[in-house]
Amino acid sequence: MKKTVMMSLLVGASLFATDYSKVITHPDASAMIQKDLLAPAKVYTMPAGCITTDPAAIARGKYIFNNLNGKKAKKNPPKGLSRKQMKPGKTYLPGQKIPYKQYGNCVACHNIEGARGAGNVGPDLSHYKENFIDSGARDNYFVFQKIADARIDNPTTHMTINLTTKLFTPREVCDIASYIVSPK
Ligand code: HEC
Repeated sequence: MKKTVMMSLLVGASLFATDYSKVITHPDASAMIQKDLLAPAKVYTMPAGCITTDPAAIARGKYIFNNLNGKKAKKNPPKGLSRKQMKPGKTYLPGQKIPYKQYGNCVACHNIEGARGAGNVGPDLSHYKENFIDSGARDNYFVFQKIADARIDNPTTHMTINLTTKLFTPREVCDIASYIVSPK
């Protein structure tokens, strides 16, 4: 009897003495923070045919400019845009929810022709073609790069970073730029 008690005490003690620290994984917090940090500012080249007078592209650009996301958008998106969109690189199981697409909500900071509830944090983009492009103050490339990564123009910008963050595709950035520089 005494022996059995002694044995179980020993087994118990050795169990407690086991070093479990090797079993617990220690995630590298710095790597996780790094992943969430904004990538450095990037200079982009405009894809061929980026700025276009195609009404369909301009309509998409206008929609992205004026709306926050697919859930809040009032009217249906134009052809080529959707309310919901699968995140690139993610696999969705049948029945799994597809998230609402994020749009630009540029109108929160900028005024433009016909804008409702426009903000004045950023410059007024009304009559952009006449005031900025035709006058030679800006060109199409400036508008494209500004939307793609505004930090190249202004390192302390308050504008959203759209292409470096992959919020939009190059085509979508081109659609928004085409809308801004279009005659209205
Ligand atoms: C949080 C506010 C904010 C949002 C949202 C925002 N912008 Fe801006 N934008 C600014 C500010 C401020 C500037 C002035 C320059 C700077 O600080 O970068 C600017 C500048 C610009 C310019 C350059 C105008 C010029 O010729 O000097 C363009 C074009 C522009 N924004 C387009 C957009 C588009 C398109 C979107 C949506 C995808 C957008 N902005 C979203 C704040 C914003």
